Amino acid sequence: MESVFSNQPFDLAGYLGIQRKIVNQALARIMDAAFADSRLCGAMSYSLMAPGKRLRPVLCLAAAETVGETTEDIIKAACAIEMVHTYSLIHDDLPAMDDDQLRRGNPTCHVKFDEATAILAGDALLTLAFEILSAPPDFSKNASLRLQVIQIIARAAGNKGMIEGQMRDIAAEMETVDITVLKQIHQLKTGALIEASVVTGALLAGGSPESIAPLKTYAENIGLGFQVMDDILNVEGDTVKMGKATGTDAVLHKSTYPSLLGMEASRKFAAQLVNNALHAIKIFGNKAIPLAALAEYIIKRER
Ligand code: IPE
Ligand code: IPE
Ligand code: MG
Ligand code: MG
Repeated sequence: MESVFSNQPFDLAGYLGIQRKIVNQALARIMDAAFADSRLCGAMSYSLMAPGKRLRPVLCLAAAETVGETTEDIIKAACAIEMVHTYSLIHDDLPAMDDDQLRRGNPTCHVKFDEATAILAGDALLTLAFEILSAPPDFSKNASLRLQVIQIIARAAGNKGMIEGQMRDIAAEMETVDITVLKQIHQLKTGALIEASVVTGALLAGGSPESIAPLKTYAENIGLGFQVMDDILNVEGDTVKMGKATGTDAVLHKSTYPSLLGMEASRKFAAQLVNNALHAIKIFGNKAIPLAALAEYIIKRER
């Protein structure tokens, strides 16, 4: 880790455990409140409550702590982002897309239920996310900030972000794209929502434009780094640890960082991105230790 953070002992596993528990409990409360005894809600909960890493909500909370403090409102926004992410996974796994059978250690939503239910559970999670975002307890107090956050998440998730990335990702199957095109795909399909997670946490915690700018740089770098690592783990990872299939990119003839650059150069690139991220948040000193540790985790992770 960069010198400003390297001599600070930090228990990342303990931190992740605490933050994930906060997120999981809040997600469970939201699902309890939304729950109807229906097949649809069963499918939504099945995918949402499965053991995901909760990286995006944890980043949202860590960004909030870097510039201010976490509130109930920020935890709700973090949960909404996790719902958008989970919906994207359900749809990403569908036969028309990646046609995957295993997700978060369980059969994918369409395998457990059926395709129509999986499509609808994804739709409903996306919609519920925006219901949650637009109905915090103190909406009237910071309505303009809230609207800004809703717009940031909507843009990151939609045709200027994740969905455009997914579209280009599918279009790039069975052909070799160059590294510039691949980088754009990764930034759109994965980077955009990760960046929105960090910015949302910082904005809702009262971060100034001056503090949000370096956090954006941090997020851009870890967002791309996260997907580069996902490509690497698709080749080298362990299916049981990952809770999803590996080797699938090669089967689909996908252009990935390892396929275009080779494994060693891909790892170096991911490490470089993490270094850029650490450099960007130096100005926050000790307050950014959790964000720094999360950046490191992104390239050290095994799942
Ligand atoms: C997987 O995301 C899809 C990508 C964008 C690479 P995660 O690796 O964060 O998946 P979960 O949430 O832990 O299941
Ligand atoms: C998933 O990308 C990106 C989104 C769901 C938006 P991938 O298809 O590469 O991720 P995994 O490997 O299935 O998790
Ligand atoms: Mg995909
Ligand atoms: Mg996939």
